[in-house]
Amino acid sequence: MADTTSRTGSRYATPELVDFVNRVHAAHDEALQLAFDAPVRHDMPAIQVAPSEGKLLGMLAALCGARRAVEVGTLAGYSAIHLARAMPEDGVLHCLELEPRHAEVARASLQAAGMLERTRVHVGPALESLESLASEAPFDLVFLDADKEGYPRYGRWALEHLRPGGMLLADNVYFFGQLMADTPAAAAMRRFHEETAADFQSVCIPTPDGLLMAIKPLG
Ligand SMILES: C[S@@+](CC[C@H](N)C(=O)[O-])C[C@H]1O[C@@H](n2cnc3c(N)ncnc32)[C@H](O)[C@@H]1O
Repeated sequence: MADTTSRTGSRYATPELVDFVNRVHAAHDEALQLAFDAPVRHDMPAIQVAPSEGKLLGMLAALCGARRAVEVGTLAGYSAIHLARAMPEDGVLHCLELEPRHAEVARASLQAAGMLERTRVHVGPALESLESLASEAPFDLVFLDADKEGYPRYGRWALEHLRPGGMLLADNVYFFGQLMADTPAAAAMRRFHEETAADFQSVCIPTPDGLLMAIKPLG
């Protein structure tokens, strides 16, 4: 059997197989396809979550009854559409994005999806935006998908500002395969894993680059 591990993160998941399950379980409507294609169209990095992960994010947001949520790293708004669609009409998703151009494209994607009213796009370093959002806590869900070295600080913010039972999600926690490397950035990601496991009920979902899911304890 051909080893597909390097391309799909699993020796069983051939590209054809992944296309099939995406088509069956995570098909795009027009707005999702527009947002998914936006990075290439606008000469931005195409580093959004994969269709199955986007669908999973939305399902997890629905399962935890998210009405107030924060996304760190929005790019062109693809994962934000999945999250916002899972929330009720009066829900609010705060989208934190460093790059003004990315934020502009994200706003356009969210508008095309009819999700602009349910979202607030904040431009600037996430740590600054998080500071200004603290007064709006508690939140039901926090999704991390931006500068990976910042994860330990974002994780501590989430612990402090999620409601008991609230959900923390973080993408790329295998750190692009470099989690065990001898570098300060990899050490920061390992610290994020360890602190999250100590403070939350956590599991690392084995997506191609790892998706951490953690629930803040009730008591
Ligand atoms: C992986 S992309 C986000 C993809 C998006 N979550 C999706 O799946 O559609 C990471 C984004 O985080 C932004 N970013 C990087 N550092 C940041 C920071 N310190 N604060 C806020 N956003 C940041 C980048 O500009 C980029 O748009």
